[in-house]
Amino acid sequence: TYVIAQPCVDVKDRACVAECPVDCIYEGERTLYIHPDECVDCGACEPVCPTIAIFYEDDVPDKWEDYTRANAEFFSEIGSPGGASMTGVLDFDDPMIAALPPQNQ
Ligand code: F3S
Ligand code: F3S
Repeated sequence: TYVIAQPCVDVKDRACVAECPVDCIYEGERTLYIHPDECVDCGACEPVCPTIAIFYEDDVPDKWEDYTRANAEFFSEIGSPGGASMTGVLDFDDPMIAALPPQNQ
């Protein structure tokens, strides 16, 4: 899977969403999250992010390692909705992200 890391928090450019062929990039309150089971590793999202927030799972910088967990656990309650257009914007974040002071301002 691919992972959205810290540079997306409080930015949410959303250019990635339009590129994803399977609509597996979901929007929370402060950042977006890639569904690890729905992502087909096409990689189309990675180069379009202006903040360089998206990484293949093996390439996530060590300092942002917890974002790999956050992208997965964001879906622990909602499971696999089968497309971000099914949920719209979700009104929560992973607790680690929710607790961050303002980022990337
Ligand atoms: Fe965020 Fe970059 Fe997508 S800032 S919403 S990961 S284009
Ligand atoms: Fe979509 Fe990016 Fe995965 S475009 S399929 S989230 S690699």
